[in-house]
Amino acid sequence: MAIAQSFIDTLKTSCDIETVISGYLPLKRQGRNLVGLCPFHSEKTPSMVVYTDTQSFHCFGCGTGGDVITFVMKMENLGYIEALKFLAERNGIPFPEEGRNDPSLDLKPLIYEINRTAARYYHEMLKSEAGKKGLDYLTDRGLTSKTIVKYGLGFAPEGWSNLKNYLRKKGFTEEQMLKAAVLTRGKNQNSYDLFRNRIIFPIIDLRKNVIGFGGRVLDDSKPKYLNSPDTPVFKKSRNLFSLNFAKIAASQRLILAEGYMDVISIHQAGFENAVATLGTALTPEQCRLISQYTKEVVIAYDSDGAGRNATDRAMALLKDVGVETKILSIPDAKDPDEYIKKFGAKRFSLLIEGSDNVIDYRLSLFRKKYDLSTADGLAGYLNESVEYLSKVESPIEREVYAGYLAKETGILKETVLSNIHVHRRRNQKRNQKESWKKIQNDRAAFRDRLNPKRGANLTAALAEEGIIAFLFQHSDYLTYVLSKINKSSFITELNRELFCILTEKLQNNNSVTLIDFSGDLPPEKLSRFSEIIAVNNEIPKTKQVLDDYIRTLLGQQYKNISQRVGELSDQELYDAIEQIKKEKK
Ligand code: GTP
Ligand code: MN
Repeated sequence: MAIAQSFIDTLKTSCDIETVISGYLPLKRQGRNLVGLCPFHSEKTPSMVVYTDTQSFHCFGCGTGGDVITFVMKMENLGYIEALKFLAERNGIPFPEEGRNDPSLDLKPLIYEINRTAARYYHEMLKSEAGKKGLDYLTDRGLTSKTIVKYGLGFAPEGWSNLKNYLRKKGFTEEQMLKAAVLTRGKNQNSYDLFRNRIIFPIIDLRKNVIGFGGRVLDDSKPKYLNSPDTPVFKKSRNLFSLNFAKIAASQRLILAEGYMDVISIHQAGFENAVATLGTALTPEQCRLISQYTKEVVIAYDSDGAGRNATDRAMALLKDVGVETKILSIPDAKDPDEYIKKFGAKRFSLLIEGSDNVIDYRLSLFRKKYDLSTADGLAGYLNESVEYLSKVESPIEREVYAGYLAKETGILKETVLSNIHVHRRRNQKRNQKESWKKIQNDRAAFRDRLNPKRGANLTAALAEEGIIAFLFQHSDYLTYVLSKINKSSFITELNRELFCILTEKLQNNNSVTLIDFSGDLPPEKLSRFSEIIAVNNEIPKTKQVLDDYIRTLLGQQYKNISQRVGELSDQELYDAIEQIKKEKK
């Protein structure tokens, strides 16, 4: 992390945290600070605070925090150096050359180039004699040549080094091909083509770069699909197949399918707004991406058990990002592709129009589970439905569905509603208990990792943090603080480290902001630092408060010193004892 301090200084003066963050999300002023909806977890009320005076941010919801660099790293998914470069570029600051030690930076354009060349090769192969069986396969599955061209589908011929030889002739080295992951290495370290004897589905990002590939076998051999591994340009969890086409048509709704072939079939049937994940389950990042393009998603997963489980998961994740979901039930076919092939595009579009909302879908699953012609079955159906409806947020929806249930089962609507009410009260109690437990667990787990002794020395740690936050904003007290305590007065390690760095910086500068610490602290410690400052922000910074902290810390230290003797050097022990004596006078 050897970045010239002069560069950091320039960056610091030109990248105001308020300006940078408000480029991503709206911020509202609240007293001296600004607040906004945290982009790192889903929330409806803002819990991210931006502190302009300390140039830091902290989210009280998810605990993320740090300086402007941390923010950009998280937001743009960049490494430390990349984030510096990003900010520098945006603000016209020349980036110091010696800092360019992030090799993946220079690699990206090269990997795009290799991928594009490979995609072109696979596509040519599909049209060639060697690829005839691939083309036949796709034609058999009902794809038109227009679709094949539009998706740039291809064929990787049999053999270990067709692509390797081709790319070599184009001037790429084996090392580069491995970085792009179009080659893979065997046990004996020899490299060979990753895709062999497979149909190729190029994966294209929103900037039209080929970022990776999916490959399907032509028969029943395993694995059926093979996907490129993650590379510097390809993160499966952050991309969606066909979003490059779908984003244009997605404003109304987006269709989310399980596989490449589903998406392509749906597309060919006239719906350009279909996407699929890339051989993995839907991720929160993908949901955030989706939420940028559409308000409604129709989940069109396979009709088997795995598909239903995946649907449950997807519904929950999409709810988190505030996207409305509908669920497509596919009768008499295992997936959209098969349905379209069997029944045609028109019937598929009717299916889409008639897709269930979340509640209808859930109730229909319960209905299928029970035999409603028996009393037991009816009771089971009612119980599950009532339990489910008790978790529905909207009172209007609860009311409407209670009415449906009543009609369907011949029970009074009031009875259904009062049952829902009983469940709601029970849920509320349980939720309260669980959320307290979770907060406590989170705290314990979270604290432990970075500052292991904090939990056992909470009083001391809080005082330490108070002192750190105080000094951070009121450097004029530095001499005073150092006359009372020094680093050996600190009981928890992380706080001691923060104190050392802070006092060292303050001895050379009149005031500091969080960004000054970027070079000294890894992001997670920086984030904790920002939290300490954020949490203590509202506490008045009077000398009396400071003295309280100091007294508390020294008092705690006295208690602790016998436990810590083993860890302290002679000098530290001596200092500590001297401090205690001084304070006792
Ligand atoms: P077709 O059989 O070609 O119609 O494919 P499908 O989309 O119906 O396949 P399936 O439902 O089995 O799989 C859905 C998606 O899961 C595929 O598009 C792949 O992205 C992924 N997938 C399927 N099989 C494999 C596998 O063996 N390995 C990996 N990594 N992914 C797979
Ligand atoms: Mn299929």
